[in-house]
Amino acid sequence: MAMDSNKAISFSKGLLQSEELYQYVLETSVYPRELEPLRELRMLTTTHPRAMMATAPDAGQLMEMLLMLVNAQKTIEVGVFTGYSLLLTALSIPEDGKHGNEGSFDFAFVDADKVNYWNYHERLMKLLKVRGIVVYDNTLWRGTVALSKKSTLENKKSSRQFIIEFNKLLAGDSRVQISHALLGDGITIYRRIY
Ligand SMILES: C[S@@+](CC[C@H](N)C(=O)[O-])C[C@H]1O[C@@H](n2cnc3c(N)ncnc32)[C@H](O)[C@@H]1O
Repeated sequence: MAMDSNKAISFSKGLLQSEELYQYVLETSVYPRELEPLRELRMLTTTHPRAMMATAPDAGQLMEMLLMLVNAQKTIEVGVFTGYSLLLTALSIPEDGKHGNEGSFDFAFVDADKVNYWNYHERLMKLLKVRGIVVYDNTLWRGTVALSKKSTLENKKSSRQFIIEFNKLLAGDSRVQISHALLGDGITIYRRIY
């Protein structure tokens, strides 16, 4: 009997069951290793009315590892806010690491207007080195990507649609290897293959 291989495996291996579990991960593995300037900036940012915009520290921890694994020297970021992810990047690259030209960036981080995610992707494919890494933030958009439009809060609807389209397009882009990681608000990591 022919079966859709995706449907045959209908159980979930997802582990993140609760807010308590998320706090456990933060308190056990993330906060104790967070660098002091980052901790200070994160605490300061909690007083900002739009504090939720800052990149989640668990996502940041993986970014630090990626930056070091690719030995990133030239990096670029779109969407800065109070600069948690930017400071994290600056602290993870050599002191002389800087800006670059087309085809020379090792690492990019995108956390800006969702309507332009695909445009950023096309532009970054030119700026990035082959084997370079890009991380996109908020690619689960508070879980709304798996909700119906009707059950999504009004102020989340438009970005939800852009994120859904972006995720779908990226999954079909053979120029990149991808991983959709369940950290923070969802981050998608890709590596330029050619
Ligand atoms: C979610 S926040 C970034 C948070 C940041 N990663 C952090 O850790 O603090 C998004 C930022 O993108 C900026 N932004 C929005 N549209 C942009 C655009 N078209 N170009 C550059 N920045 C943009 C916003 O002003 C805001 O500062």
